[in-house]
Amino acid sequence: MDHELEHFQPRNAQTIKLSETIHRGEPLATRRSSTLGQIFFCEGCCCGRSDKGFPALPKEMIKERWKTLKLNGTIQLTISGCMGPCDLANVFYLLPSDGVGQWFGGLAETWQYETLIQWAMDCQQAGQLLPIPRSLECHRFTRFQPMSAATQV
Ligand code: FES
Repeated sequence: MDHELEHFQPRNAQTIKLSETIHRGEPLATRRSSTLGQIFFCEGCCCGRSDKGFPALPKEMIKERWKTLKLNGTIQLTISGCMGPCDLANVFYLLPSDGVGQWFGGLAETWQYETLIQWAMDCQQAGQLLPIPRSLECHRFTRFQPMSAATQV
């Protein structure tokens, strides 16, 4: 443990407190856990790269609407780098507060992003995480295949 801490150089009060918590072996907890979930829109080496022939990600529109509608307190918005499944660009990932993530790919139309903005507004209004709209269900995919019995340790 001390060896690991040698490389951890606290730089402010938050990181000092965090390093002390880790050093004491206490569980970490975030104060930013009150949202219903977090949505990650991928903008990496493929997703959103219209210069490479992939559909554009309307990032500025999404960010502006999320901010104007104050959706971040309900569904936290993240624009991420490559999340892995580039062959299904454009990808987004929904991480609900229950921790069971949901993956969607092949987004190519602005209305799909507008549908997600409306969905986040509906979640905000309802005060609960609602299912992803049916119109986007065909974009759902399984990110990781279950390990077969042969590959399990
Ligand atoms: S760039 Fe989006 S999954 Fe790789």
